[in-house]
Amino acid sequence: MNPIYLDYNATTPCDPRVVQAMLPYFTEIYGNPANGLHVLGRKAARAVETAREQAAALLQARPGEIFFTSGATESNHLAILGTAEYAPPARRKVVTCAIEHKAVLSPIYRLREHGFEVVVLPVDENGLVRLADLESALDGEIFLVSIQAANNEIGVLQPIAEIVALAHRHGALVHTDATQAVGKIPVDVNVWGVDLLSFSAHKLYGPKGIGGLYVRGGKRQIPIRPLLEGGGQESGLRSGTSNVAGIVGLGAACQIAHEALPVESARLQILRDELEESLLASIPDLKINARAAPRLPNTTNLTLTGVEADALLLQMPHLMMSTGAACNTGAPEPSHVLQSIGLSREQAGSSVRISLGRMTQAEQIPLIAQSIVAALGSLKS
Ligand SMILES: Cc1ncc(COP(=O)(O)O)c(C=O)c1O
Repeated sequence: MNPIYLDYNATTPCDPRVVQAMLPYFTEIYGNPANGLHVLGRKAARAVETAREQAAALLQARPGEIFFTSGATESNHLAILGTAEYAPPARRKVVTCAIEHKAVLSPIYRLREHGFEVVVLPVDENGLVRLADLESALDGEIFLVSIQAANNEIGVLQPIAEIVALAHRHGALVHTDATQAVGKIPVDVNVWGVDLLSFSAHKLYGPKGIGGLYVRGGKRQIPIRPLLEGGGQESGLRSGTSNVAGIVGLGAACQIAHEALPVESARLQILRDELEESLLASIPDLKINARAAPRLPNTTNLTLTGVEADALLLQMPHLMMSTGAACNTGAPEPSHVLQSIGLSREQAGSSVRISLGRMTQAEQIPLIAQSIVAALGSLKS
């Protein structure tokens, strides 16, 4: 059987149209956009601003509210550490939740070293933050609430608009790591009302190493201390010569995602649901994690009791998916996300994530289901 890629939440292939859009910026329009004195610099600067418009359009933001970074990890750090630098002395608490990506949890934990108190909200058995928990955590000392829009492992979607409404009532800023949401579900920063939002090109068929941070009202509205200082690029928020080709790729990916999103997300949801139905019909003790919650349309996370996920994946080398332990480089630990929704270490170690995407075809779904059932059968026998 031909290999089937089922790991789109880890990363996506670059869309060939994105690659085409990028190519001239390596060899022909290689000017530094900071230099407006010659035509190659001006052309590069125009391309960067076009990409800013394309990224803004996907999020329903204004171009002046988008700042390019090296990816969501950096955007999260900039949003969390950069705003905390200007937190008033009376607001030294931050709130997050247990199933955040480590790229949010790590900078938040670092704030402890600077005297901040960190509140980590638990989640329910489907991965949802309980609004009542958030409400009781909120008080006038909270500076920042950082809750992800969509989870990379189980796909659960948090009620961001409700979270923002509660947090704003207490005067807190709200950041959301929307890395898994942008390009997969409609994201409108005005509907959500967030102050800061992180995203990354390689999760939406763009290149790796480029991403962005949305800042409501732009840099003047929300004071952020840059992580990188020097040449003053990105309005001083992120110094370093602009990755023009990467930025152009991000812009093109955003534009394609904007056009494709409604049809593609409906298509993937149908395929994902078909896959789940067919697995449930053949595997009586199958547990589908977060199934009762609103989820990303392309994601399913399966606990296959009694088998080790690693062993299962080795049985099916033609299916490229990930295990409940593989969301961080070389992490041997069972997933903190799965343990936070109540799975034992053993169950977490028996879990696999399948994430579908643009190249997934309807006729592959029965093959995927059959392969999993067969591999499970041979491991159990
Ligand atoms: C939810 C989430 N946040 C952040 C990241 C990190 O993104 P990047 O690879 O762009 O730094 C990822 C990707 O692994 C992710 O899934």
